[in-house]
Amino acid sequence: MTDTKKSATLSLNGESYELPIFSPTAGPDVLDIRKLYGQAGVFTYDPGFTSTASCDSTITFIDGDKGELLHRGYPIDQLAGKSHYLEVCYLLLYGELPTAAQLEDFEARVTRHTMVHEQMHNFFRGFRRDAHPMATLVGVVGAMSAFYHDSTDISDPWQREVASIRLIAKLPTIAAMAYKYSIGQPFVYPRNDLDYAANFLHMCFSVPAEQYEVNPILARAMDRIFTLHADHEQNASTSTVRLASSSGANPFACVAAGIACLWGPAHGGANQACLEMLKEIGSVDRIPEYIARAKDKSDPFRLMGFGHRVYKNTDPRATVLKQSADEVLDLLGIEDNPLLQVAKELEQTALNDPYFIEKKLFPNVDFYSGIILEAMGFPTSMFTPIFTLSRTVGWVSQWKEMIADPQNKIGRPRQLYLGETARDYIDIENR
Ligand code: CMC
Repeated sequence: MTDTKKSATLSLNGESYELPIFSPTAGPDVLDIRKLYGQAGVFTYDPGFTSTASCDSTITFIDGDKGELLHRGYPIDQLAGKSHYLEVCYLLLYGELPTAAQLEDFEARVTRHTMVHEQMHNFFRGFRRDAHPMATLVGVVGAMSAFYHDSTDISDPWQREVASIRLIAKLPTIAAMAYKYSIGQPFVYPRNDLDYAANFLHMCFSVPAEQYEVNPILARAMDRIFTLHADHEQNASTSTVRLASSSGANPFACVAAGIACLWGPAHGGANQACLEMLKEIGSVDRIPEYIARAKDKSDPFRLMGFGHRVYKNTDPRATVLKQSADEVLDLLGIEDNPLLQVAKELEQTALNDPYFIEKKLFPNVDFYSGIILEAMGFPTSMFTPIFTLSRTVGWVSQWKEMIADPQNKIGRPRQLYLGETARDYIDIENR
């Protein structure tokens, strides 16, 4: 953040107030309103935070108009094409690409933390068998603070580091356990000889009765899904993690709060909602009916997996993932899968429809990730847990950045109050 010596003048009730302007390294200038209430006695009003920077950050930059996503300056398409998930995790956490030795050390640290406390198995068994895996994740990740007491003191940098590694390492194990539990299969322990993505597939699809070989094309596609979801600056769940941590809460509780936020269909739940929509459409000949409904203002139906709050040109993550979707569908074939046929046809129809073109509604990352995960054999209920485990590094990186910032203070938005003004209590017999 540079102080540009630029400022804006606000005229209010005959008084003028100078508001400093900060220039970021990329993106629009930012008006500093921190002293506004103290000086002018007014709040600003911005429901949904469409015009508000809630923090400064050096981790991720998005230019929604250009369709650009950078992590520590590196474009996402280069990272997805040349790097891999754990290297991107290192980059997000520590700010620079690792040397070979640093990467080896980091991978070893993550790999050695993939097992969960054995007592956690009992904790899982307390959930109803048909619990949604996201419900299980919210509970189990929050409960990590009850299992790992030695990494909850946020004032200790070493404990913050251990908590970060634990979260990144154990989330795939917990997500896979939630899945296995929901289908009544035994939990599968992690294998340290497999890489992060292949190990996750192993923990989800292995059964004791037979050998499971991880297909390298599927492992690569899985790794790409993880990489493309790793961070996305101050989105709803990340802002939730930051707000929760601003009170000094422990990292496991804060990440559980982020998971709860991510679950919603307007955020991470969109990939599940998208596949459910494809199932509802059911066959290619019904696509025009659903396109018409999506355009009808009196119908609340929206095409799930289309549109984005920030990207108004193209979602760069979707561009990369479309290639992966094509590779996976080529490998597994879609001839026998009507759902995937509907997805392919819907994509083309919407991309050529004037309504979607004019409103800049492109397929987003959730559209393609849903297709790939469906083709891999994941049930829709696992889509958001997979987004969750991928995003954990983003939450943790943003959390670490915030805690290390001496300016960090508790998040406390104000409001535009429209309720009753003060009135006297009425005794119950007089109401
Ligand atoms: N289908 C049909 N119309 C749409 C859609 C859609 N998916 N998305 C937006 N519109 C229309 C909307 O009706 C509005 O029309 P009008 O200007 O005539 O009122 C216009 O486009 C702008 O929509 P908005 O709701 O003001 O845009 P927003 O920035 O508030 O919403 C969104 C962004 C992602 C919530 C929205 O596009 C949406 O609901 N998409 C479907 C859900 C989805 O795929 N979400 C995943 C987002 S990517 C993953 C993540 O980051 O979590």
